[in-house]
Amino acid sequence: MNERFPADWLTLREPADHAARSEPLLDRLRDWCRDRESLRIADLGAGTGSNLRYLAPRLPVPQHWTLVDHDPDLLALASVPASLPPTTLRTVCADLGEWVLATTAPELVTASALLDLVSRHWLDRLVRGCLHHRAAALLVLSYDGDVSWTAPDPEDAFVRAAVNEHQARDKGLGAALGPLAPVVAADRFRAAGYRVWTEPSPWQIDAGALALAEPLVAGWVEAAAEQLPEAAVRIRDWGARRLEDLRTGRTTLRVGHRDLLALPDPDR
Ligand SMILES: C[S@@+](CC[C@H](N)C(=O)[O-])C[C@H]1O[C@@H](n2cnc3c(N)ncnc32)[C@H](O)[C@@H]1O
Repeated sequence: MNERFPADWLTLREPADHAARSEPLLDRLRDWCRDRESLRIADLGAGTGSNLRYLAPRLPVPQHWTLVDHDPDLLALASVPASLPPTTLRTVCADLGEWVLATTAPELVTASALLDLVSRHWLDRLVRGCLHHRAAALLVLSYDGDVSWTAPDPEDAFVRAAVNEHQARDKGLGAALGPLAPVVAADRFRAAGYRVWTEPSPWQIDAGALALAEPLVAGWVEAAAEQLPEAAVRIRDWGARRLEDLRTGRTTLRVGHRDLLALPDPDR
């Protein structure tokens, strides 16, 4: 049930992730923390520290990061960029099903490419934890189910639907929200009295990004065929065709993600 994420895959996606992230949300977060002496940050499902590498140099205050992940091999690859001396880093190897925010009393809770893996129940617990600490939340690069190709193929919608159904399987934290995650998270934070902003953060993939596209499409083929075993050949044919289309420049691909920023209401 627990899905594993190879370090190679996280390395491959990091440039596309960083390029896709919403700058307007980052600007709002910067304004929010500008007058603080420092910021305690919890990064959930941190992997090798991609979120830290993106955010730490862009925040205007000294930071104390806690990176939480259940994979010790990924956490071992995390480090603070050398040019950021006031930044401290602690790693915690724990399952997010059991780990509680109380152990770090964060002022900012963040996660990148995690939210679509979690359940409604887990998300509710996260929102309650953030509220308890009056912490801000920056939850980025949540898959939103919207995959589009500039040159469509008749089987795109069929495969996308199978992939999106597969996304709702249990990934270790209960039945996953999958593509619903960005909308449900925004609703839950608003219901808890937070001010919430969301922005698209899609990957834009063309023939120059085949190294990312190949494992991505292979992963979709595997997931869709697991969801619909009777259609495995049809799905594999689609994957081969779409990779060839990308390779020859016949199409480009957009993979929908959303970023969310939730700030505690200062009047509450
Ligand atoms: C898609 S990766 C994203 C990693 C990193 N945030 C990034 O942006 O590169 C999801 C991460 O969540 C971690 N993860 C998934 N389920 C988890 C769980 N139940 N407990 C702790 N970590 C978990 C995985 O080990 C992986 O590092």
